[in-house]
Amino acid sequence: MARITVNVDGMDHTTDVEPRTLLVHHLREGLGKTGTVVGCDTSNCGACTVLIDGESVKSCSVLAVQADGATIETVEGLAGPEGLHPVQTAFHEHHGLQCGYCTPGMLMRSICLVRENPSPSEDEVREGLNGNMCRCTGYQGIVSAVMAYAESADEGGTR
Ligand code: FES
Ligand code: FES
Repeated sequence: MARITVNVDGMDHTTDVEPRTLLVHHLREGLGKTGTVVGCDTSNCGACTVLIDGESVKSCSVLAVQADGATIETVEGLAGPEGLHPVQTAFHEHHGLQCGYCTPGMLMRSICLVRENPSPSEDEVREGLNGNMCRCTGYQGIVSAVMAYAESADEGGTR
């Protein structure tokens, strides 16, 4: 076992983990952060995407021990007392989800995408989301939502 400390959605967690434990399993089973989901076992779908020190990462492709000392943001930390995060509002308003299974990863990837490129073109949004799959194929709504989120971010709407 290895002792690690991660800050997840603003809270420090120090726990012992098996060295082989994937970060997504540590989040879900070790820390009860089940908002981050597993959609494949091949690191393809992006449903498990979280931000690690501000960068979007597929949490099934990282060992928990590799995240020792990191700050991790998950979908569970997005909404606050003041309501939905602007990216959640944009997905809601632009029908960016159907079953919602891909949504946790889509939201986290979208935040990183817009941080990296605050005024993306539609092609750049599609390119930026190419590691995240939606099995409901609701891509048009997702792309519209990310474009709207970027515009709201431009107006100071991110947090
Ligand atoms: S569960 Fe991580 S990429 Fe699919
Ligand atoms: S909304 Fe169902 S997988 Fe994307």
